[in-house]
Amino acid sequence: MGWPVIGNMWAFLRAFKSSDPDSFIASFIRRYGRTGIYKAFMFGSPTIMVTVPESCKQVLMDDDHFAPGWPKATNELIGKKSFIGITQAEHKRLRRLTANPVNGYEALNTYLQFIENTVISTLERWASMGQIEFLTELRRFTFRIIMKIFLSSENETVLESLEKVYTDLNYGMRAMAINIPGFAYHRALKARKKLVAVFQSVLDERRAMRKKKLFPAHKDMMDALMEVEDDKGRRLGDEEIIDVLIMYLNAGHESSGHITMWATVFLQENPDIFEKTKLEQEEIQRSMPPTQKGLTMKEIRKMEYLSKVIDETLRIVNISFVSFRQATEDTYVNGYLIPKGWKVQLWYRSVNLDPHIYPDPKNFNPSRWDHFTPKAGSFLPFGLGSRLCPGNELAKLEISVFLHYFLLGYELTRQDPHCRMPGALSVAFLSRCGKIKFPKVE
Ligand code: HEM
Repeated sequence: MGWPVIGNMWAFLRAFKSSDPDSFIASFIRRYGRTGIYKAFMFGSPTIMVTVPESCKQVLMDDDHFAPGWPKATNELIGKKSFIGITQAEHKRLRRLTANPVNGYEALNTYLQFIENTVISTLERWASMGQIEFLTELRRFTFRIIMKIFLSSENETVLESLEKVYTDLNYGMRAMAINIPGFAYHRALKARKKLVAVFQSVLDERRAMRKKKLFPAHKDMMDALMEVEDDKGRRLGDEEIIDVLIMYLNAGHESSGHITMWATVFLQENPDIFEKTKLEQEEIQRSMPPTQKGLTMKEIRKMEYLSKVIDETLRIVNISFVSFRQATEDTYVNGYLIPKGWKVQLWYRSVNLDPHIYPDPKNFNPSRWDHFTPKAGSFLPFGLGSRLCPGNELAKLEISVFLHYFLLGYELTRQDPHCRMPGALSVAFLSRCGKIKFPKVE
């Protein structure tokens, strides 16, 4: 259980600030064997860490014995009325309302053109800028898309200022929960307050318009959240709507931005894979009817190799590397007792990098996905069960469209090619390696 008070946190943070984050779990394996279940004291709570597919699957599929168990500091930032703080019944209802309009086939079909236009104009802008902070710009790009879905009528100024505030919120979520001026967590709490204020004023404005019987021509997700009623006719309160928005807008751009960055970097660093992926995209472009203006879902479905490139990226680097649950009853997992009230950490990263499932796991090899379908629970970039990411298809669509146009017309060069890239948190890549040149290939 580590040291008094801090438990195993020091070892965890040290590993994740190094170039070998997996050394943390490796030290448990060395001491206690490959049991896949370890006891530790993490984020202020006694915790069971689960690192193997079967046990992760059991916990993720068992909503009767496990509820969300995120650290208090994360709950404070994301919101007590967001998906990680509400009852199971409420969660089910709000997921039903929001997941399909974000991730369903019809919805993706509707968003495709907007995503495509945004990709084309974004890449052109970057090329004209010459040098950019890649991750910062990618975050802006993915934020623009999620804003379109949730708050489509808000203007450019709101969009710009919100994205900046979210950057602070995110840094705070990955920092120690020290609420003292100067620390990232303190800045994140202030960011949350700003977000609440902005969303409250948007809500007030929309409610005022409704009172005057003025309704928008196109409804977005904020309208849907304002209108939804439960079986007793009860509507969501402002706090509930705002927390769901804060959560979705955050989850809906941060991870996609990181994965897009890493996919681009991996491609650029592996010329053979770059060429193979590019050939597929050129072929897809050639086979499009000359009268067709842009990509359709038909072309997206043809991007088979690109899809493997994305899966391989999601497997190797993912900022959602761990998830949190809490046992609501004494429960046995793989023969071990998890006592009621204990936290359970699901180590998605360990599963995705398991050498028994993925030989040479850190090697970027999209072809490992040829004729290979992982068993349920052994590929967890988006989690599993009732809390499976409700934006997984949207994320893959955004990344595919981005890479399609990137491969067809652009190259990036890192300003400092020798800069070390930590394998776990690409936030550090941005701050340590700085800018990236982004020329268009003629
Ligand atoms: C590459 C991009 C993405 C990755 C790697 C990712 C990863 C994940 C993972 C692992 C979870 C499950 C957490 C758990 O087990 O508790 C999750 C949940 C979630 N994701 Fe994503 N996500 C991505 C993109 C998105 C997008 C685009 C959206 C929004 C449209 C989104 C919205 C959410 C929400 C709201 C949840 C909470 C679900 C719930 O508790 O029911 N994510 N994501």
